[in-house]
Amino acid sequence: EQSNVPFDIIGEKQLSELVDVFYSRVSQHPDLAPIFPDDLTETARKQKQFLTQFLGGPSLYTNEHGHPMLRARHMPFPITPARAAAWLACMESAMEDVQLTGELRAFFFERLKQTAYHMVNRPDDEG
Ligand code: HEM
Repeated sequence: EQSNVPFDIIGEKQLSELVDVFYSRVSQHPDLAPIFPDDLTETARKQKQFLTQFLGGPSLYTNEHGHPMLRARHMPFPITPARAAAWLACMESAMEDVQLTGELRAFFFERLKQTAYHMVNRPDDEG
């Protein structure tokens, strides 16, 4: 029987490609690159773990790092509405690059959008 779990539909390989392409775009984005570490290897590894569980797969992130508390973990970084939009634009392009399509893409992007705006912790003029 086929699974309806989004993680099973996207699969580990495509999710991993998506995250790698996403951070290569982030590293080239003028508003995002300055707030990220130069080496994004560990960031990408954690994001793969997080998105696996976000999409209903095994709780890889929580097993290693504890409760995600994403808003709190982002507090040290100035996340403005403009940076949330930039993050989402990088993700939308990455989805295009790895040819993630259809209902899964729409569902995934919608949930990321909600999460991204929830991370906003500074107004644009304090970024
Ligand atoms: C970590 C920025 C949205 C998930 C980080 C880090 C930055 C950042 C600067 C620290 C990187 C590091 O030190 O390795 C942003 C910005 C966002 C955003 C500007 C725009 C809204 C999101 C969203 C998610 C997310 C929407 C999840 C769907 C994570 C995770 C980590 C992380 C899982 C690693 C946390 C850890 O250290 O354990 N983010 N982020 N972020 N972000 Fe975001």
